[in-house]
Amino acid sequence: MAQSKQKTNREMLLDTLHSTKKTSAEDLLFNYKGILYPSTICSEEMFGALETFEARDDDLLIATYPKCGTNWVVQILHEVVSMIKNQEVVLDQPMIEFGNPQMLEILMVIRNPKDAAISFFNFYKSMPALPTYESWNLFFKDFIHGNVCYGSYFDYIVEWNKHVDDKKVMAVTFEDMKIDFPTQLKKISEFFELPLTEEQICTVQSRTSFTSMKEKSEDTHGKLGDAFFRKGQIGDWKNLFTEEQSKEVDAKFQQYLAGTKLGELLNYTKYCKM
Ligand code: A3P
Repeated sequence: MAQSKQKTNREMLLDTLHSTKKTSAEDLLFNYKGILYPSTICSEEMFGALETFEARDDDLLIATYPKCGTNWVVQILHEVVSMIKNQEVVLDQPMIEFGNPQMLEILMVIRNPKDAAISFFNFYKSMPALPTYESWNLFFKDFIHGNVCYGSYFDYIVEWNKHVDDKKVMAVTFEDMKIDFPTQLKKISEFFELPLTEEQICTVQSRTSFTSMKEKSEDTHGKLGDAFFRKGQIGDWKNLFTEEQSKEVDAKFQQYLAGTKLGELLNYTKYCKM
């Protein structure tokens, strides 16, 4: 998190997202090494440059599949760092894919695949930088086959599962943060060696609640605030998934993640069974 009076990376990213107009899928997406990315904010040049990217010692790195709580944890870390430093830090959030988990501490945020899919479908609809699907059923087909931006949810978790025992990587779930925020925040702040008092934990909790972030979303995310802060709930998938779709995800989960550490952490039976 850098402090600067110039436009932050995050502000430049939001400017781009605001100025993008919905056009065809071919114009909005491009394929890099077999995975789709939004062409208004990613480029081949950027991915090339990332091959030699070096993070600074004080960078905090977050890894999430889309729609699993990125903006939530960014705000949490912003509040924690501001509190520890006793001054407001400028929120800078470059969207990078980072491929070397050995280097620095990385906080991974995961969410159950069914809610992530619903959130992603709605995000595609409301985000000018992404094409709109005519129906949930069409989106679901692409989601389940990993034919959406940033690729397959399942491949993503499988890849990160390889790093789950790395001391520099810590995983938390969207659901645990919803259900017991203080415990999860304590884990996060201790992981980054930014310990908080009970009082500070309460303050961060109230400043990063869904209601509070949604209220401030026009300041933080401009006109697209509503797209980033939609419902913030667990279980919204039950409103759109058909039984068949639900079973399809169950089968994928079984095939890819059952018995893995991240699979266990997701508490699939509790959050993803009809
Ligand atoms: P929904 O679409 O289900 O509401 P990301 O930031 O990775 O794009 O994730 C977006 C999802 O996180 C959205 O889910 C959004 O509402 C939810 N979210 C953002 N801030 C939140 C908060 N403070 N509490 C709970 N959910 C939050």
